[in-house]
Amino acid sequence: MNTTNEIQKQEEYITKVKQINENKKCKYIILTMGCQLNENDSEKLCGIVEKMGYEKTEKQEEADLALFNTCCVRENAEEKLFGKIGELKNIKQSKELIIAIGGCMMQEKHMVDKIKQSYPFVDIIFGTHTLHKFPQDLYEALKTQKKISDIIDIDGEIYEGIPIKRNDNIKASVAIMNGCNNFCSYCIVPYVRGRERSREPRAIIEEIRELASKGYKEICLLGQNVNSYLRVEREKNIAFEEYEGINSFATLLEAINKIEGIERIRFISPHPKDFTDDVIEAIAKCDKVCKLIHLPLQSGNTKVLKEMNRKYTKEQYLSLVEKMKEKIPNLTLSTDIIVGFPGETEEEFEDTLDVVRKVKYEQVYMFIYSRRVGTKGDKMPNQVPEEVKHKRFEKLKQLVESQIAENNQKYIGTYQKVLVEGKSKNNSNMLTGRTDSNKVVIFEGKEELIGTMQDLKIISEHMWYLKGM
Ligand code: SAH
Ligand code: SF4
Ligand code: F3S
Repeated sequence: MNTTNEIQKQEEYITKVKQINENKKCKYIILTMGCQLNENDSEKLCGIVEKMGYEKTEKQEEADLALFNTCCVRENAEEKLFGKIGELKNIKQSKELIIAIGGCMMQEKHMVDKIKQSYPFVDIIFGTHTLHKFPQDLYEALKTQKKISDIIDIDGEIYEGIPIKRNDNIKASVAIMNGCNNFCSYCIVPYVRGRERSREPRAIIEEIRELASKGYKEICLLGQNVNSYLRVEREKNIAFEEYEGINSFATLLEAINKIEGIERIRFISPHPKDFTDDVIEAIAKCDKVCKLIHLPLQSGNTKVLKEMNRKYTKEQYLSLVEKMKEKIPNLTLSTDIIVGFPGETEEEFEDTLDVVRKVKYEQVYMFIYSRRVGTKGDKMPNQVPEEVKHKRFEKLKQLVESQIAENNQKYIGTYQKVLVEGKSKNNSNMLTGRTDSNKVVIFEGKEELIGTMQDLKIISEHMWYLKGM
């Protein structure tokens, strides 16, 4: 069955579930545990279930359907998931409640086995490649009261036309590719998200045009390897339809830059190896592409990088930074770093600190290495003791925080373009927005400014936000 027919078939199931739920005022709760791609998948799940007549609630005791969209990139999500399912067991004893668990963790066989064994009351288990089939799975669970397990271990197709209920009306994320072919040795993502495959250019542009017509101002392009968009297709001669000259990530940025109404373009998460010259030029040239670029480092030591299978050395990374700084005016950088990868010595860790000192990142996402079953890293003999990992993490955190404090100073007195996102959560008299470099700016202003771009003078800094006027 082709993907369009499959989506039509699922539309029929949506109608069937809607009929079953008619006049019942059913409610659903959703917990999303992962990255922005998972959040985007959750927006699709919300779109699907709201079309079936479910209304969102934040109170689990009110829910008729509890949805979990899981992540397995690090260990900590597991405890959280099991705790939550445990809480729902009691609720399920007193009322009809469907519990459905999806997402990356469900692509891991040992996790599915554990759920089936320890939490047999879970109704539906679905994976990352079967999200589009959720209407059918839910229909069958409601109709037959059987336990449904719908997971496939293939690369999955790209399905267009899945309903979507977005969380925001100013910023929207748009998945442009799925999967990852890099197999960094610490990472589970390639195993749970399958191989790289890109969406058709036309589908992406049409989605963004529609978002622009609804008043969205900022687009965040998503992919586990976002800047290798269409690379596999080009290298393996997999057919795709060129649209508006789009045949690469660079040409995609250029095409989106022309869409009227869209004011900002971001993308996450790129890989350093795919910052080819055409991509760097496109970032420099396209005025709407934000000049904050995420450039995941992971480690600053060449030997560790090799063990991680990152495909660059410390020197190559630093020269890429230099080249980008030279070609892209006002460039700022953020990064991801893992401490305590197997075999990492104190000296090798110092290289990571060295790169952080040199690059002066705008933001650093720091992670303690977490063993993931099925990855090469998990099988490495020389695992770093927990307390050593934690010490390194603290050391890195201190350096990063001192750099952020220092970096914030440079904003004071400058004018920044701020996209106003809404009222401040902590102070309803204030509005909040973000700079091109993704810094939060709080300022006094009227509600009408929400959704507009404002030129603000930065008057003070407070570690995690700036104050403007
Ligand atoms: N595809 C993206 C994001 C992958 S997951 C990228 O390549 O950048 C996001 C981050 O989680 C990674 O960049 C890495 O820093 C971190 N991460 C992945 N696996 C991890 C593990 N086993 N332990 C600790 N951190 C990990
Ligand atoms: Fe994981 Fe590496 Fe792929 Fe990112 S590029 S998803 S870190 S394997
Ligand atoms: Fe987690 Fe899956 Fe994203 S493992 S980080 S939710 S791709």
